[in-house]
Amino acid sequence: MSPTNAVVVKWAVKVANWSPSTEEFKAALSEIQTDEHEKVLKFMLPVDRKRALVGRLLAKRLILHFFPDQRWDQVRLSRTEYQKPFWAPGLQMSPAFHFNYSHHGDWVVISGHLGGPIGVDVTNTICPSNTTVEAYLGDFKSFFSTREWQKIRAGNPSEATLMHRFACHWCLKESYTKALGVGLGLDFWKVEFLYDGLLSLDEPLQSRISVYVNGALQPGWIFELGSVDATHPVCVAYSGSEGVDAASRSPSPFVVKDICDLLS
Ligand SMILES: CC(C)(COP(=O)(O)OP(=O)(O)OC[C@H]1O[C@@H](n2cnc3c(N)ncnc32)[C@H](O)[C@@H]1OP(=O)(O)O)[C@@H](O)C(=O)NCCC(=O)NCCS
Repeated sequence: MSPTNAVVVKWAVKVANWSPSTEEFKAALSEIQTDEHEKVLKFMLPVDRKRALVGRLLAKRLILHFFPDQRWDQVRLSRTEYQKPFWAPGLQMSPAFHFNYSHHGDWVVISGHLGGPIGVDVTNTICPSNTTVEAYLGDFKSFFSTREWQKIRAGNPSEATLMHRFACHWCLKESYTKALGVGLGLDFWKVEFLYDGLLSLDEPLQSRISVYVNGALQPGWIFELGSVDATHPVCVAYSGSEGVDAASRSPSPFVVKDICDLLS
């Protein structure tokens, strides 16, 4: 096993650009392990099936990126008791390899990390058509602290900015939750994200983001908040990296992959 030296790798696929025929979809499905087929096919909507399949293909391709001496047809994902996928080939790995993927809206994103847990979340900023922005945000009132809502609502923002800030905060919470791997086991209102300045549609955040749980700072976490396009913020949360203290304030962008890059 010979991992590459990369610390955090970030890839994205715009599933909205992929319109496979039934045969093409079946061929792509045959590239993933059979016990995951049912999880992909359980979705009624083709777009959900595409997102689920592309996530699994991305995971396989990312594993081969980090471990090029592995064989495509022998890479198998396992799941924790909370359903977080991981890769455990039965060999001692040092440093430990972690990955996570997320699918929402037009995109599927994945991040991989050598050295510590990682979580990623992409969320689109479109308010559902059957509600208003205020009613929609109201449904999530208890998910964020008073200080987080002040950051989201500061300066009488436009609805677009409001939805963008809300989606960014959602990505922060989800990426951290997903890095921990606990899913619904975490009380989201106990987790608070603080930073200097405000999130804007036009400029990336210039300050470092910190996470607090029950008011206590959780040291060593890096949050790379960015976007894959104008309506899809994305956040990568990771810890345990040697580069944590020197982490850049401008996160590296996601590398956009084509579906062809993912197949064997
Ligand atoms: C999986 C979970 C952690 C995130 O789901 P989500 O944001 O709806 O969906 P995403 O597309 O970002 O992520 C789904 C992927 O995460 C991975 N995943 C599943 N369980 C996971 C877990 N416990 N931890 C980390 N990743 C997990 C899987 O790869 C899954 O995709 P797959 O089922 O196609 O393999 C979800 O089960 C959950 O518990 N969400 C929390 C719900 C909530 O109320 N959040 C409030 C945030 S403010």
